[in-house]
Amino acid sequence: MNIVIFGPPGAGKGTQSNLIVEKFKLHQLSTGELLRKEIRDKTNLGNQISSIINSGNLVSDEIVGNLIEKYISNKIYKSRLIFDGYPRNLVQATNLDFLLNKYDQKIDIALKLSVSLETIKKRILERKSLEKRADDKEDIAIKRYTTYEKNIKPVIDFYKKSNLLKVVNGETTISQISSEISGLIESI
Ligand code: AP5
Ligand code: MG
Repeated sequence: MNIVIFGPPGAGKGTQSNLIVEKFKLHQLSTGELLRKEIRDKTNLGNQISSIINSGNLVSDEIVGNLIEKYISNKIYKSRLIFDGYPRNLVQATNLDFLLNKYDQKIDIALKLSVSLETIKKRILERKSLEKRADDKEDIAIKRYTTYEKNIKPVIDFYKKSNLLKVVNGETTISQISSEISGLIESI
């Protein structure tokens, strides 16, 4: 089974992905984490993208597409992936379908975590004191939120049309959200 989980910054994509990974023995593919690793490792790609990420904008579709293809094409992960933070726009959603099809796979469920901007600000500012993420300043977090809002509508419609979309209220507790998600996955 392959899962997409999307939602605004701080919605809990990473938190819930970790729990799904444990419970269903899947592999998490967070494009944000992969991109931050490139920056930490000071690779050419990392140097190229750090200013984009730290301003709250999206990295090019081509760059993230290449990153995810490495995982989709790897037999170890075949039909065991949870896509955390990909797709973020319609081009990426279409590309994900294309790549999965190329490697004889598909998406089984698309989970949308809904969270208000107020909650996001609170969570991101709390996380700032635990993890040092360069894009967790308040103004950049708001920019990440507006970038999400600007691009996500066609992605929602895309998964709605294919009957894969499940909307989950991301405002409740981590364990409540997790059990709701588990129930949805188990009912596939
Ligand atoms: P990415 O790393 O994906 O960041 P994001 O989308 O802004 O989301 P976050 O990781 O901040 O939040 P999350 O939803 O994972 O929440 P978390 O579980 O951590 O992307 C970063 C950047 O990379 C993008 O801005 C872009 O530049 C680039 N990028 C990434 N993917 C891309 C793509 N596909 N195309 C182009 N560019 C791309 O939770 C947040 C906090 O809240 C934590 O402290 C957590 O403990 C807490 N929390 C979680 N759930 C709850 C709850 N229910 N109640 C209370 N607290 C909670
Ligand atoms: Mg995350």
